[in-house]
Amino acid sequence: MINGTEKQKSPIGIFDSGYGGLTVLSEIKSLLPNYDYIYLGDNARAPYGNRSFELVYEFTREAVRWLFEQNCRLVILACNTASAKALRSIQQIDLPQTNPAKRVLGVIRPTVESVGALTKTGHVGVFGTSGTIKSQSYDIEIAKLHPQLQVAAEACPMWVPLVENNEFDKPGADYFVKKHIDNLLKKDGQIDAIILGCTHYPLLISKIEQFLPKNIRVVSQGKYVAESLKDYLHRHPEIEKKCSKNGTVNFFTTDSPENFGELASLFLNEKIEAQKIKID
Ligand code: DGL
Repeated sequence: MINGTEKQKSPIGIFDSGYGGLTVLSEIKSLLPNYDYIYLGDNARAPYGNRSFELVYEFTREAVRWLFEQNCRLVILACNTASAKALRSIQQIDLPQTNPAKRVLGVIRPTVESVGALTKTGHVGVFGTSGTIKSQSYDIEIAKLHPQLQVAAEACPMWVPLVENNEFDKPGADYFVKKHIDNLLKKDGQIDAIILGCTHYPLLISKIEQFLPKNIRVVSQGKYVAESLKDYLHRHPEIEKKCSKNGTVNFFTTDSPENFGELASLFLNEKIEAQKIKID
């Protein structure tokens, strides 16, 4: 657990079911290097993608509560499944009752805000977990912000396990990557921008680009989430002032810290040491 001195800090919490949120953390850290961060991966219960609304909400709430206990005032759900299934309830029901001064933000809105400028045909594709796609969160947000766009979505239930099991750059991944690209393009052949609506998927980007026609742009969300966080901190000085700034990142996982460190080091290209915690 975090010791007393560390607790004086008020880091920004970054949460994902597993490793995927590291793709968001990496972009946030490079844009906003001065803040302190805590990354929490609920690897023991990942993947979340096929789980029910109730369970994703319960797990996400527990993770957010743990991050609040570590003195985070601002938590980013760097997970589309949690953003799709738990964010609204946490923001509208939990925070006002239990932590009115704390904030929880997701990744779907910032991604959707950026997509309007990235398509010329007005036809956009979305890849995501079964949970994210079934929730229709992207369709709903795109309809609100860019009602002129056509959206086609495809659930890719095998992609997260390929990443979590370090198979994302191996030949076995080819079949599942090609299959979902073909399915999506059959749904709409005019797509020219595809949102990777799962924070694990940037790890598959070289495979995705290998099977995708060259005219289609792939939208990884980390950069947009980072820019949106920067803008949020600028617009909310009352939160920004309270975030500590020593440039540290601490990693926590609910499963083996050795396994987490090994795979996270690959994701982030630096040596990562994680600590194990229990949040249920
Ligand atoms: N990174 C999560 C997301 O963005 C992964 C979901 C999962 O655990 O299945 O949706």
